[in-house]
Amino acid sequence: MTDIKVIGIDNGLTNYGDKDFARFLRRTFARSMGLSQDMLNKPIIGIAVTPSDFNSCHRGMDDLADAVSRGVLAAGALPRVFPTISLGEVFLNPTSMMFRNLMAMDTEEMVRAQPMDAVVLIGGCDKTVPAQLMGAVSAGLPAVQLVTGPMMTGRHKGQRLGACTDCRGFWGKYRAEEIDKEEIQQVEGRLSVTTGTCAVMGTASTMACIAEVLGMSLPGTAAIPAVHSARLLAAEESGKAAVALLQNPLKPADIITRESVENAFRLIMALGGSTNAIVHLTAIAGRLGIKVSMDRLNQISDETPVLVDLKPVGEGYMEDFYNAGGVGAVLRELKHLLHLDTKCIDGSTLRQRLEDPIEWVDRKVIRCFEDPVSKVGGLIALEGNLAPKGAIFKRAAATESLFETEGRAVVFENLQDLANRIDSPDLDVNADDVLVLKNAGPKAAGMPEAGYLPIPKKLARAGVKDMVRISDARMSGTAFGTIVLHIAPETAAGGPLAAVRNGDRIRLSVANKKIELLVSEEEIKQRLEDITPVIQPKRGYSALYQRSVLQADEGCDFDFLIDTK
Ligand code: FES
Repeated sequence: MTDIKVIGIDNGLTNYGDKDFARFLRRTFARSMGLSQDMLNKPIIGIAVTPSDFNSCHRGMDDLADAVSRGVLAAGALPRVFPTISLGEVFLNPTSMMFRNLMAMDTEEMVRAQPMDAVVLIGGCDKTVPAQLMGAVSAGLPAVQLVTGPMMTGRHKGQRLGACTDCRGFWGKYRAEEIDKEEIQQVEGRLSVTTGTCAVMGTASTMACIAEVLGMSLPGTAAIPAVHSARLLAAEESGKAAVALLQNPLKPADIITRESVENAFRLIMALGGSTNAIVHLTAIAGRLGIKVSMDRLNQISDETPVLVDLKPVGEGYMEDFYNAGGVGAVLRELKHLLHLDTKCIDGSTLRQRLEDPIEWVDRKVIRCFEDPVSKVGGLIALEGNLAPKGAIFKRAAATESLFETEGRAVVFENLQDLANRIDSPDLDVNADDVLVLKNAGPKAAGMPEAGYLPIPKKLARAGVKDMVRISDARMSGTAFGTIVLHIAPETAAGGPLAAVRNGDRIRLSVANKKIELLVSEEEIKQRLEDITPVIQPKRGYSALYQRSVLQADEGCDFDFLIDTK
């Protein structure tokens, strides 16, 4: 535990060469906001908000900020709301992933530069929570994470719809010509019907649960729907918790430890959570020099059953998860596998939290340990000559009959090549082939969610629902299929994926946790020597990103931001 000096408005005075003048000047301008001297003498809680007309998932931000402010005031401190950039997943080009580190830097620098004693961070959409946690870790101030919460489901012809697993399901039907244009347009208006994050256990929901199990959010708050009154109460309590942190000064580094990170990896497995969460948690932990090896990840996965029956792995939606008991109910099932002395921002330990009995659990949604959805965890790391630094595979969302596959490679050199040829009637492809996408990794393309390669139209029309697909890209947390992702090193960093040619044989073995190119090592080496990685020169932030981004196994953080201890 570290000492925190509460300084309030005089924190980090602007440099004018005269401290007393800087203090006087700051207070003068603060008084222009109608703040009394009494208020200016209180501790200050910053409230980082991320509203944007380009971020539908954060539409309820103003109400949340008001409720946090109410909690801060009630606890005797002065709330100060400030903006950082916002990342609305589907509104960003080329991909929101490219801007996660920018938002993390924005958050870190604004928390550090402005006068505050603690901060409440309000995020929700996929990249925003990891960015805020990365920034908070590096800023080193006491911090509370509050999420906007998941959206509610819609209805179409009696069927429940939730963004965005059902977006993909219906788009697949449209591509296969099972539904027509009129119906897909009806569905478009019925998928995302309230504010909040995607309604399934996608990346945003997984990250919300991670923030809770890490101890950075208040217990029980991850899954509260965005439009539920309990979400506002959680916001008010988060404001109070930030003030309480001034008396019981826990910094993020006291809360995010190797043990709490392992708990978080375990929870991801039990949730059947998003593959993206592996990258983000790796980046958050990396800020503190914490690294969980692929072997340890696989050990955790093999020991931890999937307990939560939510889309994209199962049937339910986040509103069901909340009503079923939420993160607390899952953690109680995993108790014997968890590190229980980890701390929460409210000062309690996980052990104390789990000692309290839980009122009720809906076992249709959150299974008990002995009766899981699947006996092993949702995600595994793969190794092999195609992925010397690893790859990620979501076995819980894959087709079991494809777990042991050897197939012919059908190669797409980049995203444009994929777009140009995937639906071509002339494409030489069969259902038992392996689709390979190159040059979609962090340096080449910002690592977009392009790993969910569409099934070629002619195969989709013939009823093919799934194929083995491999790439250095990511995949949406709401997606599903037999898909190998995050291959590291990526094509553009000289990884062996660059050496794959049409017609090569590729072997996926989930049992052995291997992804292999069945070509001799000498041949692979020779092919790689003949290739010059294609990286277009960039300017501005893109250039910084391309130069400094690390590979997926290091969380795609920037090399100059990770802990170098
Ligand atoms: Fe924001 Fe899915 S688009 S959480």
